Amino acid sequence: MANLEESTETASETTVLSKNAQKRLLKQQKFAETRAEWKAKTREKKRARKAQRRLEPLEDPKPGARKTPTEQEPKLGQILIDLSFEGLMNQKICRCYALNRRTTKPYRLVVAGLGGDLERRMETAFPEYTKWDIEFSSKSLEEYKNGQTIVYLSPDADKVLSEIDPACTYVIGGLIDRNRHKNAAAIRANELGIETAKLPLGDHIKLKSSQVLTIVHVYELMCKQRECGSWAEAISAVIPERKRVHE
Ligand SMILES: C[S@@+](CC[C@H](N)C(=O)[O-])C[C@H]1O[C@@H](n2cnc3c(N)ncnc32)[C@H](O)[C@@H]1O
Repeated sequence: MANLEESTETASETTVLSKNAQKRLLKQQKFAETRAEWKAKTREKKRARKAQRRLEPLEDPKPGARKTPTEQEPKLGQILIDLSFEGLMNQKICRCYALNRRTTKPYRLVVAGLGGDLERRMETAFPEYTKWDIEFSSKSLEEYKNGQTIVYLSPDADKVLSEIDPACTYVIGGLIDRNRHKNAAAIRANELGIETAKLPLGDHIKLKSSQVLTIVHVYELMCKQRECGSWAEAISAVIPERKRVHE
């Protein structure tokens, strides 16, 4: 206000400001005073919108809308994401979480081996992540292993996963690569003495490249299979057309 008086006073010595000009000046001063606060609020809103969008990355109709608790059956079976490999996993965890909220037959979702860089990235990207319905644990798969029936999913396994056993924990390797770390899941499972199994892709489709799927596709297939009770249907719903060979 003091500024306005000063400036109108100074102005009146030379030119008299019209009422409109005075209003405009007042508005500009008010804006200047609250600009920092407005900027901070806008930035905060933007950040919240971005975090929300990350939580809802699957807007396309494929995985369906997010289910309310009454639309979902109680959680049955367990999928564990093994973070022993590398850190660039925060987006993948978020997508698996989104899928688990959209299926009628969700899994208990465990993320094992959380710590270091990934934990910091999760905190930054998704400040509310500890409230998600996921068991985040710093425990390693080795510590989880005791007394549980575990199958490590691996594209290099000899055995094919024909049925999903709800009493079993299925492990997905927390790797983003497709082919760079060949046999990574199989080697790790072997070191831990855990059985491995591959998804039955070869029985139903021919893929243009390798049979190595992304973590999100693996998770989506595991959910879809339980929803529709058929691997053929699940594979057809999840694997994009562009990746298949049509004979
Ligand atoms: C992007 S892949 C990593 C591929 C990596 N070269 C490996 O051997 O684990 C991420 C994880 O998805 C799972 N996965 C991918 N394709 C699979 C398939 N065809 N059958 C079973 N599991 C698969 C495995 O658990 C794998 O560790």
